[in-house]
Amino acid sequence: MALVSAKDMLEKAKAGHYAVGQFNINNLEWTKSVLTTAQELNSPVILGVSEGAGKYMTGYKTVAAMTEAMIEELGITVPVALHLDHGGYEGCKKCIEAGFSSIMFDGSHLPFDENVAKTTELVALTKKKGLSIEAEVGSIGGEEDGVVGAGEIADPQECKKISDLGVTMLAAGIGNIHGVYPENWKGLDFGALDKIQALTGDRPLVLHGGTGIPDDMIKKAIGLGVSKINVNTECQLSFAAATREYIEAGKDKQGKGFDPRKLLAPGAEAIKNTVKEKMELFGSVGKA
Ligand code: 13P
Repeated sequence: MALVSAKDMLEKAKAGHYAVGQFNINNLEWTKSVLTTAQELNSPVILGVSEGAGKYMTGYKTVAAMTEAMIEELGITVPVALHLDHGGYEGCKKCIEAGFSSIMFDGSHLPFDENVAKTTELVALTKKKGLSIEAEVGSIGGEEDGVVGAGEIADPQECKKISDLGVTMLAAGIGNIHGVYPENWKGLDFGALDKIQALTGDRPLVLHGGTGIPDDMIKKAIGLGVSKINVNTECQLSFAAATREYIEAGKDKQGKGFDPRKLLAPGAEAIKNTVKEKMELFGSVGKA
């Protein structure tokens, strides 16, 4: 199956009260681990690519070509969207050209009028091509691949204005943070989420910073209209821990344990386990 827009999978998720995971990818192993897990669990999936990860993988064209080819070669039949994460205006245009099926325009750091103007333009462009588009209001705290946010809670009226532009899905800052949550984190602002959901109706809402949010908060957020949850750091942590364990056990020095296909295997398996746990928690298993 070719790459698809995230529209159908997210509208189904919103109506069915579950969420689809966006798992950020960094390289071939990551992509393969996420795709094969989605297929095994018969779950729709969104592959997130930050601008930094796109650059690391040598460019958006490489990422789109690799993903398309991998879907074909692995016989992946579940719906897969390839999505730019926290894109700037130019990055969005490049990804559309490169063959991504979904983009996020993050205009949250711009004056609101400018966020509206640029989002409007990109909504028109994506509509013409049948792609999905995510916009952001308020900001996600912490740092995501060089994108730093102060973590302002989104203004529900601004959320409504951006939602009414016809975006596919809307990310709203509700106290969520990229990366590991600090000890003194106050938790998600469910009051704000409730107001945003009341004003944006059927529009699928996006929860960034999925790493480390307690399960009960994830479930409550889904109950209040969140239908896409982004996870990045947690896969990186599980990959790193499994790789560390392999090396610290001296396995790279036994036989041909240094072969990258062996060296990277425990990390790739760890990513699969994290993705599986999240898909079970989000409720997307069996929903392809
Ligand atoms: P985490 O790195 O906290 O999982 O956040 C991922 C994210 O929101 C990507 O946009």
